Amino acid sequence: MNVEISLEPKLSRIDHLFVLLTENADPGDLPSAIEPMVADAVERSRFAGRADESITILADEPRKLTIAGLGKRDELSFRRVRAALYSIGKVAHKQRDERIAIAFPYLLPDLDATATARLLAGAIAEIDYKYDNFMTQKKDEKRPVIEATLIPPAGLDKRAARAVQAEAAAIADGIRTVRDLGNAPSNVLTPTRLAERAQEVAKAIGIKCTVYGLREIERMKMGGLIAVNRGSAEEPRFIVMEYSPRRAKKHVALVGKGITFDSGGISIKPAEKMEEMKFDMCGAAAVIGTIEAAAKLAIPVKITGIIPSTDNLPSGSAYKPGEIITMMNGKTVEIVNTDAEGRMILGDALHYASKLKPDHLIDFATLTGACVVALGSEAAGLFANDDELAQKLIESGERAGERLWRMPAWDEYKDLIRSEWADMKNSGGRWGGASTAAVFLKEFVDCPSWAHLDIAGTAYMDETPREAKGATGAGVRVTIEFLESLSRS
Ligand code: BES
Ligand code: MN
Ligand code: ZN
Repeated sequence: MNVEISLEPKLSRIDHLFVLLTENADPGDLPSAIEPMVADAVERSRFAGRADESITILADEPRKLTIAGLGKRDELSFRRVRAALYSIGKVAHKQRDERIAIAFPYLLPDLDATATARLLAGAIAEIDYKYDNFMTQKKDEKRPVIEATLIPPAGLDKRAARAVQAEAAAIADGIRTVRDLGNAPSNVLTPTRLAERAQEVAKAIGIKCTVYGLREIERMKMGGLIAVNRGSAEEPRFIVMEYSPRRAKKHVALVGKGITFDSGGISIKPAEKMEEMKFDMCGAAAVIGTIEAAAKLAIPVKITGIIPSTDNLPSGSAYKPGEIITMMNGKTVEIVNTDAEGRMILGDALHYASKLKPDHLIDFATLTGACVVALGSEAAGLFANDDELAQKLIESGERAGERLWRMPAWDEYKDLIRSEWADMKNSGGRWGGASTAAVFLKEFVDCPSWAHLDIAGTAYMDETPREAKGATGAGVRVTIEFLESLSRS
């Protein structure tokens, strides 16, 4: 959805105006052009503002007015507003509205008008996302693109409004890339195709992208990536994207897990929900989408995106439990579970990234079921060897509406991946599974400021009241917010 921000939109051009109101709200903080109409509708319908309540009336200018409830004012949260916005998107599509306006006359808790408008504009820009590339029928119908105008709370000046609008559009583009990549089926989105998409994005934003194939990966001695790829009929890819703006003072390396399908390999997964493992490349997608958004926003930070990609399948040549693999950094790993493949490919990628000596190194991975058990889909797990970086990322997440929750990567967890035969095992079993995965990764990190985001629970969802089923774009918002904060400091 295209979003514009305007304090005084031309009501004659709007098909459908949506006004969000809390319980017993005083609609008086609305722009004067719409306040009387809203007050009248509220009064006559006895609208109370409960979270599940809405009324629609036919009017003149705009043609339709819907007032939707947000529940109690003191319980107002961005999550609740997102749910309301998501239903607005559905209603607008069903009613074939082409121009809508959404008025939100409050400040979100602890935020000023600009910060509130940023969250709202960002959410509106992606509320009507739907992946229908493979729907033979829907495609012909062609959903009209909805033009949305956000009527923000008072206190936002024109310049800030323009900046917020441009930022929302750039981030929405990046998130759309992530969601499209994540939702694509694994027969289509192979490692080769993922690399082509990275190159297409790089070309569109005018940055460099280098793609390495099997021969070069072998020459670089990426033992982890090669081992996981052995079971596959598809060649692996190692993708490096470089965004180097001239004024950059800091360099951040972003590493993303690019498993295009994770069957578990010889340690095969149960059939139930195995189809969800097409999303196992969402970390890679987050890297591509973040770089796309950062370049469109011209954020003055150098960013290198690093993506190891393969699928993980069983076959006669697949890597097996009991094998010992030598990784790119020379350390040896005893394979005890071929389903712990993400850390194998990330180990090599983190070593590669460390050699670039970035100021900060951040990886994104749908790494462990254990992280989903711990946090569900409310937050991504955050592990870091740098408290200051961890704190900055958590704060960026709060501002961006994307929560991170810190979990430990203490050295004690290394006991669980100790091997009799090699430097370490690739799995520490079930207990503390998210943390043992993190300390495994740490063995390949040579950078004093590293963070690992386990996005297994947040990268994709069943349909929630807040967003459509499938890939969510997890990682983009928080990382853009972090990069922006770096460029300010
Ligand atoms: N891709 C999975 C993790 C995952 C599980 C993501 C569920 C999203 C939802 C990862 O490769 C994996 O299989 N991890 C294993 C590790 C174990 C074998 C140590 C897991 O979490 O069970
Ligand atoms: Mn796995
Ligand atoms: Zn996996």
